[in-house]
Amino acid sequence: MTAIQDVSPAALCDLLVSEGIRRFFLVWDPDAERVIASHPIVEPLARLFEGDRRDFDRHEGVFVQVAPDSGVLQGVFLHRTCRGQGAGGVRFWRYNTVEELLRDGLRLARGMTHKNALAGLWWGGGKGVMARATGGAEDPAARRRIYEEYGELLTSLQGCYVTAEDVGTSVEDMAAVFSRTRFTTCIPPALGGSGNPSTPTARGVVRGMEAALAHLGRGSLAGKTVAVQGLGHVGEPLIGFLREKGVARVVGSDIDPSRGDDLRRKLPAAPGWELEVRTVERGDNSVLAEPADIVAPCATGAILGPRTIPTIQAPIVCGAANNQLEDPERDDQLLKESGILYLPDFLVNRMGIVNCADEQYGYVAVDPRVEAHLGDEWENSVYNLSLAVLDEARRTGATPARVALDLAERRSFDLHPVWGHRGAVIIRSLVENGWARG
Ligand code: NAI
Repeated sequence: MTAIQDVSPAALCDLLVSEGIRRFFLVWDPDAERVIASHPIVEPLARLFEGDRRDFDRHEGVFVQVAPDSGVLQGVFLHRTCRGQGAGGVRFWRYNTVEELLRDGLRLARGMTHKNALAGLWWGGGKGVMARATGGAEDPAARRRIYEEYGELLTSLQGCYVTAEDVGTSVEDMAAVFSRTRFTTCIPPALGGSGNPSTPTARGVVRGMEAALAHLGRGSLAGKTVAVQGLGHVGEPLIGFLREKGVARVVGSDIDPSRGDDLRRKLPAAPGWELEVRTVERGDNSVLAEPADIVAPCATGAILGPRTIPTIQAPIVCGAANNQLEDPERDDQLLKESGILYLPDFLVNRMGIVNCADEQYGYVAVDPRVEAHLGDEWENSVYNLSLAVLDEARRTGATPARVALDLAERRSFDLHPVWGHRGAVIIRSLVENGWARG
């Protein structure tokens, strides 16, 4: 029989439903030092986590449901909630196997712990993952129902996780989530939210690039060449900002031809400005190998590894995509040995979640809080923190990612000044009160 982690998300849904199971959890028990599974049938997943050293990091809890109407497999991943509720976007993505989905959720949630802590937010690390193949998403009404059901899942989790937009999810989808739960951000402005956070994210990435150039003594962005993978919500405004900064040439790639057409229309060639966009096949990472000053991965994760790193000609890699390294330890080292300065995503792509977090406290058009993150004054701004991390890396010989990670880990254990380790308290109560039987 195929192991449960090796089946497709759709097959897992069928299996669970045939057993009369609608929800399951995998929760870390810090006293017993093991993962507790809600049902015997998912015990192998608990053992998978316990035996894993790469993606599982004593995550506080994973909560999964087969959505009652749409049948979509929907998950919430909580890594560490000392600083506050787990916060991070919900991804709607295709996964071949259950293990692939679980690993993505675990890695992304952990990344959010680090990102939120480095940004100085009082949030923990959390992430939502939904498996696309387990339900139709093309019909608008069906799609709306999928996100409503995700909202219902969050309501059942009583606030230990607050969601946001992520790959595959739109602001309209967030409105559907919001119609069923208050534990969401990134809702449309018409409903009192701040909308899509990608433009601030792009601005933050630009500040990271500027810090990297300054650190290497390479001056400003003016006249530089930047290669951008992914021309979506972040990639597109990023290229606009790069142009404003005087970048001379951008080479971009996307698997969707319409993205390039849009960009060419919006940013036509002009004296001192050249834009080359290519439509590529999924899995074609050749844009990373462009002769450039900076390579900016802004599509999917796990694209930096032994196959791509040796092809990179740029001295700097700095982009928005989450979890860019195929294997965090190995590939971080490989980048260093290749003489490439790599700014980890969680150091420079914070502005999306900052925008989301801050919208809960109201916002203004030119928000001084947001501007502080993007400016030169505040010591914890993207620019200054990136510079500090790069300096520390140079001083100690560690990689920037290692320095940033150590700092993020230390900060992630700081307890929320008002609520303490509230997420853990909520998770315990969910387990004790039979959440998985609901
Ligand atoms: P998006 O889905 O709007 O854009 C991604 C683009 O990459 C799409 O146009 C897609 O067609 C393209 N793409 C996918 N695979 C590709 C490949 N192999 N080669 C070239 N293009 C490819 O997503 P968005 O919002 O722009 O996010 C991009 C990355 O940044 C994601 O990894 C996301 O998790 C991360 N991120 C986004 C934030 C935000 O505020 N939107 C915040 C923090 C991280």
